[in-house]
Amino acid sequence: MRILSGIQPSGSLHLGNYFGMMKKMIEYQEQQELFCFIANYHAMTSLSDGKALARGTIEAAANFLALGMDPEKSIFWVQSDLPEVQELTWVLSNFTPMGLLERCHSYKDKVARGVHPNHGLFAYPVLMTADILLFQSERVPVGKDQKQHLEVARDIAIKFNNEYGEVFTVPEAEIDEQVATVPGIDGQKMSKSYGNAIDLFLEEKALRKQVMRIVTDPTPVEEPKDPDKCNVFQIYRLFLDKEQEATLRRRYTAGGLAYGEVKQELFETIRDFFAPYAERRKELLANPEGIRAILAQGAEKARYAGLKTLRKVRKKTGLSY
Ligand code: TYM
Repeated sequence: MRILSGIQPSGSLHLGNYFGMMKKMIEYQEQQELFCFIANYHAMTSLSDGKALARGTIEAAANFLALGMDPEKSIFWVQSDLPEVQELTWVLSNFTPMGLLERCHSYKDKVARGVHPNHGLFAYPVLMTADILLFQSERVPVGKDQKQHLEVARDIAIKFNNEYGEVFTVPEAEIDEQVATVPGIDGQKMSKSYGNAIDLFLEEKALRKQVMRIVTDPTPVEEPKDPDKCNVFQIYRLFLDKEQEATLRRRYTAGGLAYGEVKQELFETIRDFFAPYAERRKELLANPEGIRAILAQGAEKARYAGLKTLRKVRKKTGLSY
């Protein structure tokens, strides 16, 4: 099965990104045909600092590679190394009703939060659709926040196919209910833009500080607590197997659990979980040329697959004449 997903390199990657998408992608490369890219065009909708975007791109790649993305087993590249995706975006724009984009929650939320929208932000889901359709992706593992964008992609693919015949595979979202929305330290969805994220590979001190800031309710220590309403639990359980989760759940409901104590455990768990990958990440970052070479190879492979689709599109639409 052909699986594809992307991630924006704006700011650091966080636990929501890891559990919502990166972990699954890294696992999939063993069995499936995996396409994974760094969505730097998309990041331009929220970042206008060139140096930060370039650095973020290298760092995102280093994180992925350190965590186990294997360029021999997968196709791993940077979105803008294949500007062909912009050509497809334009073609698809002509199959995208305005109303479809106007209804997108992600766009509406940003506007409601005071972002002055530009065309890039508005057209963002069309570029995302092009990312998916260019490679005939069947499955797209994402967090819940991307669900609607996947519906947009399906709508556009179907509309195009109705007009020109079966050119595109109609993709399906894959959203794992367990990790659909990882909460941030304030209980809202963990997000780079909400300032509530626990980043991957934080220094120990910064990580501890961030974990200690997780918002909890004022239930006294001795009283039973509801794990399902607790942000600490909701994050902690991502690192636990079923049995460990049940044990932690019992500690909550039995009473006598201090939030400070469970936060300290969570901090240690996160630290120990990522520690084995930190050394590899450091090595990778010490040699950005090496990272660029890996990405360039990935772009070559991606181009080969993408051009197959694009040739069909050019032919059907009359762009090749
Ligand atoms: P981005 O960079 O915002 O996030 C990358 C992935 O992480 C997931 N995610 C979360 N999952 C669970 N809980 C959270 N708190 C959380 N925060 C983020 C996101 O759902 C996503 O799967 N538009 C995309 C990037 C993209 C893309 C694509 C994805 C561009 N083109 C084509 C799939 C297919 C985005 O901004 O993700």
